[in-house]
Amino acid sequence: MKGFAGRLTMPRNRPFRILQLTDLHYMDNSLDPSVDARILDLVRFATPDLVIFTGDQVMCPTAIALYGRLRATMEQLSVPWTLVFGNHDAEHGNAKSALRAAAAGSRFVWPSDPVSDDSDFVLEIGDDWLVFGLDSHNDATYDIGGTPKWGYGTILPTQIEWIGGVLRSCASHAGRILPSVIFQHIPPAVVRTWDDPGASRFRGEKNEAVCAAPIDFGYHAALVANKSAKGVFFGHDHVNDFAFERDGITYAYGRVSGQHDYAMPGFPKGGRIVDLHPDGTFDTYVLLHRDAR
Ligand SMILES: [Fe+2]
Repeated sequence: MKGFAGRLTMPRNRPFRILQLTDLHYMDNSLDPSVDARILDLVRFATPDLVIFTGDQVMCPTAIALYGRLRATMEQLSVPWTLVFGNHDAEHGNAKSALRAAAAGSRFVWPSDPVSDDSDFVLEIGDDWLVFGLDSHNDATYDIGGTPKWGYGTILPTQIEWIGGVLRSCASHAGRILPSVIFQHIPPAVVRTWDDPGASRFRGEKNEAVCAAPIDFGYHAALVANKSAKGVFFGHDHVNDFAFERDGITYAYGRVSGQHDYAMPGFPKGGRIVDLHPDGTFDTYVLLHRDAR
């Protein structure tokens, strides 16, 4: 199956723990070592079964070397890890395939038969869960009612179709629709509806606008129709970490993990824990770096 990144074991007596780290923004500067240290502290404290970096790992022309730096940091740990690309990772003309190759270490999880050069993949967690990574791309000019409008990238119709195919294939093998969580960089447009009447259970911090694409190509509707996705996790907006629910799906920002402060200098850095239970439920909460040392 294209995009199949492998299978990780579901623990027997505890949930499967994912640590989401986001927006590292390695920039080839004097703050890079603090990013290394934060990753190591958070992973060692959280003891996850999988680490997912949700984009903007770097924002620098020397991106390939900095992806090697990330690999070297993760090689100090013994945890499987993977990533999705953000809008800044490949912005200086570095091919995504070259970034991915620079990251590939002994526990780097990536499909052997990828869907494309983008970061689209699915992982099986035992017979209990699916974990998707989706590439939300950089930016684009969209046709909004006949008017061209610039906006951030988003999940494209081909990816929505690919998810549907994966879910149908897995359901035919498992005999049921498996629950899933999805990790991507740019929030889906539906996150703008966090305070609409259809949204519930808001928690966390909202300190800036939701910087999403102006359209979502039916992404949220497809996830609702597929009846699999329980949570969608993203980054991109560094000083938001809120979560809310809509139509049974939790949408949640990670907690910014790297450097490149804007808007709120000193905003405490951290990560997001996602604990997957065998019964198809999950818990999620923010872990601050200052509480992980
Ligand atoms: Fe971003």
